[in-house]
Formats: sequence, C-alpha cells, structure tokens
Amino acid sequence: MMRTIVWNDDQNTVEMIDQRILPREFKTLVYADYCDVADAIRTMVIRGAPAIGAAAAFGVALAAHQSSAKSIERLLTDLDSAGEVLNQSRPTAVNLSWAVRRMLDAARDFKGSPDELRAILLKLAKEIADEDVEINKRMAAYGAELIEDGDHIIHHCNTGALATVDWGTALGVIRMAHEQGKRIHVFVDETRPRLQGARLTAWELEQYGIPYDIITDSSSGYLMRRGLVQKVFFGADRVAANGDVANKIGTYMLALAAYDNGIPAYSVFPVSTVDLNLARGDLIPIEERDQAEVLELTLMGEPVAPEGATARNFAFDVTPNRLISGWVTEYGVIYPPFQTNFQSEINE
Ligand code: MRU
Repeated sequence: MMRTIVWNDDQNTVEMIDQRILPREFKTLVYADYCDVADAIRTMVIRGAPAIGAAAAFGVALAAHQSSAKSIERLLTDLDSAGEVLNQSRPTAVNLSWAVRRMLDAARDFKGSPDELRAILLKLAKEIADEDVEINKRMAAYGAELIEDGDHIIHHCNTGALATVDWGTALGVIRMAHEQGKRIHVFVDETRPRLQGARLTAWELEQYGIPYDIITDSSSGYLMRRGLVQKVFFGADRVAANGDVANKIGTYMLALAAYDNGIPAYSVFPVSTVDLNLARGDLIPIEERDQAEVLELTLMGEPVAPEGATARNFAFDVTPNRLISGWVTEYGVIYPPFQTNFQSEINE
C-alpha cells in the first residue's frame, strides 16, 4: 500500500487515498487547493490524528505554492489565513493544529525570498510526513514487547497505516508483534457510526495476514468476562496533561470494561498528540458530527430509524487516565502516574 498522503513534485499537488470508499474501492484523489485539503479532512477522505496532521502540513505547503505573494509579509498573511481554514477542519485531534503551528512558526522565523520560503515549507511538510513513519515504527517496537505469543487483542477504530502517513500507531504495534512471529488474533471493534474498524482495520489486517474477527462495539465486556481477551490497544486523538485520553467514541466504555476485568488497556500515540495546555481531559474539544452519519444506517436496503428520528453523534470520548495501563510513545512505554513519568521520560 502507498502512503495515505504524498506530494506530487511535478504538479505541486497533494494526493490522498480516499478512505471513504475503502474497502470497496482503492482510489486516490488529487488536491491543488488548500481549501479542498481542509474539506478532505472534514469529510474524512483522510482521517486519523497523525494523518490529518500531515495533511494540514501539506495544506500549508500548498497554500504557499498557491499564493502569488511577491513579498514575505504578504505570503505570511496568506499562510495565516490558510492555517485558520485548516485548523477549523476538525477540532479534536491536536496533531492538526500542532502541524499547522510547526509550519507557521518555521515561516515566521524564515529570512529570505518568498520562493525560498515556499521550498522550505514543502521540505518541512515532507519531513513531518517522514518523521511520522519513523516515529510509528519506534512506537511499534516498544509496544510489541507488551504482546505475548497467543494474545487475543481488542482494537478500537482504525489506527493503522491509514490513520497515519504509514505503518500506524496501535495497529502498528500489533503488526510489529505479528511480524516478530508472535501468534496473535485481533477482535476488531466495528466502530460505529463510520465503521473505521469493520472497513479499514479489517482491510489492513487482511493485507498483513493477521487473523481477526470483527465484533460489534458492545461485545467487548462479554468477551472479556468469557476470558477471551488478554490486551486492549487503541490510539489517541488528544491527551491532556494529566493523562486523560480523547479517542474514538466507545474507547471509554472499552477501557472501563477492561479495567473491571483486570485486562491491560494501552493507548499508543506520538508525543505530538499530547496537549500540555489542557490540564484535564474534560477540557478537550469533542467534535460532534452530522446526525446523518448515525441515521443513514440501512438494514436490508431500508433505513433503520423511523422517519423524523434525531440522533447525537459525538465522534470522540475521553477516557480517564486511571483506566489506562500504559502509554506507548516514541520514547518508550510510560506507566502511571503519567504526568510525572512523561515529563521525566522526555527530559531524559
Ligand atoms: O474520526 P477518525 O477516524 O479520524 O478517528 C480516528 C481515531 O479515533 C484514531 O483512533 C486516532 O486518530 C488515533 S490513532 C491514529
């Protein structure tokens, strides 16, 4: 599989895998306008915290190419507006604003001509994408040590190559353990309403040759009580300073069930997902998406809900740090108390 997002040097465009139509069809879309990149993030052509961070970085690089500014001041103004548009595309994953800030900070610090700045920004966006892959492989190596031969693992949402530039976070850990020769099996939460598990994670596991079964999101507690599960792995979209984790809706209930059954639950993410500006998880902005995503479910070709039904569609929830057994980051596995141990780990 190609990377989820690549820059085309000949055309100065951004190309992305269209994740809305997988696994039915593998198709890429080409973007020449940063506003369309913001739209692709909003409509989930590209999704997953690290992947939308890379998309935002390429979006800023695209804005620099699109701008006809002849002065640095004018170019910076255009880049600031692009940054605002991109930042508004999805609110929860902090990787997005992290990548925009990194691009804009580099632009503000730069001394030289507008064309030199355009080249520098493109180089930085490519670096952000390359770094993501490298960080994911580091996390995978640390995380794979937590997995034992014979483990059955519940995985939530899609955290694989598709959720990142390549390789993945939590699913990357699982893939690494599989490549190390450990015999593992994955219970794939289907992950309503967008079904990132049933569609994207299952599609990736097919390609890696990892045995799996799709389960409905509400099955995990029962499977755990039956003794069928040894570990739980999921990603993160934003982590507060105290270690609370915002991730795909359903993660909280999964972590609660794991805690109640004494099953370790690990959250895998790069440190760019940690937002030290937010003291606690309840301060994390949680995206609420269109109710149509819930209501348009059909069964045997017919809509499930009665006409006129309404729905609430929160895309993420927050898992309190006390329910999480460990963080897997590019610095290694970090155990509670997260706030203290994280600070000492990154300052080492
Ligand atoms: O709404 P999505 O599909 O962007 O949500 C993705 C997730 O919740 C992932 O678990 C998360 O981004 C972390 S793993 C890359």
